[in-house]
Amino acid sequence: MGYDLKDRVVFITGASGGIGRACAEEFHRAGSKVVATARSFDRLETLAHELGDDRVLPIRLDVTVPDERRAALAQTKEHFGPVDVLVNNAGWACFSTVLNMPQEHYDRMIALNLSAPIALIQAVGPEMVQRGSGQIINIASVVGFQTIPRMTTYSATKAALISLSTGLRMELKGTGVDVIMVAPGSTRTGFFEAAAKVGTKASRFASTQYSALRVARAVVRASRRRRREVVLTPAGVAATIVRRLSRRFADFAVYLVAKHAMPEAAER
Ligand SMILES: NC(=O)c1ccc[n+]([C@@H]2O[C@H](COP(=O)([O-])OP(=O)(O)OC[C@H]3O[C@@H](n4cnc5c(N)ncnc54)[C@H](OP(=O)(O)O)[C@@H]3O)[C@@H](O)[C@H]2O)c1
Repeated sequence: MGYDLKDRVVFITGASGGIGRACAEEFHRAGSKVVATARSFDRLETLAHELGDDRVLPIRLDVTVPDERRAALAQTKEHFGPVDVLVNNAGWACFSTVLNMPQEHYDRMIALNLSAPIALIQAVGPEMVQRGSGQIINIASVVGFQTIPRMTTYSATKAALISLSTGLRMELKGTGVDVIMVAPGSTRTGFFEAAAKVGTKASRFASTQYSALRVARAVVRASRRRRREVVLTPAGVAATIVRRLSRRFADFAVYLVAKHAMPEAAER
């Protein structure tokens, strides 16, 4: 049986741009009530204005701050009711070798890409279980399956999110709550510009990039069809298949790609 998105309360983190904004548009198109959250409130207001009706609630939220998370969820409940679908999308990367990675950058990646999703899942999960219905959608990355050098720490946070999704799905089996992991490959958003770069200027790794809209459509499709895992972009799918066949070859191929994409990077 599919999941009907009409009138569902969909809480999206990182909805001010890129994949999160496109998800807000697509869930709205599907008839859901969208809670669009991020730090850039002006951009959320623009989004709400563009979508133009009372099924959008913009909330300023730095998802790494516990008080802000609590306040955002309380405001959501008061306005629309409890969260039906949580989309853990907000994310950020620092491109650097592990040896050169500043602590503030890996702390931020872990807080944003891993700790915040766990905290939100803990906040909305129990009520979903009580109601016997709900969805948790985690936006991970293909690099969570196949690490890219100089994106190692970021890749590790996404690998952890994939692992979390797998275990959570098993823990929630039979409760009526779906856990969906979406792993985009290279996507045209502000992600590469927003990333901090230490000793490298990496811009992208694949010649073919998906649009944010294409990723968002895949997210909504996965929600409707109650899919467990979705891997996106031809290069992303190829990387996961090659890795299954030979880890050694996959690592070598990715090493060469990364070297080409970031030729100026320090080797260690
Ligand atoms: N683009 C790619 O190639 C790609 C590939 C695989 C996976 N992903 C993943 O897809 C997700 C979306 O990325 P994107 O490509 O759309 O990147 P993006 O365009 O840089 O968007 C990132 C979003 O996260 C929000 N954000 C950052 N820090 C935040 C914080 N502390 N609290 C709340 N929101 C925060 C940003 O909004 P504010 O700055 O307004 O807070 C923004 O809306 C991320 O998890 C990313 O890791 C991206």
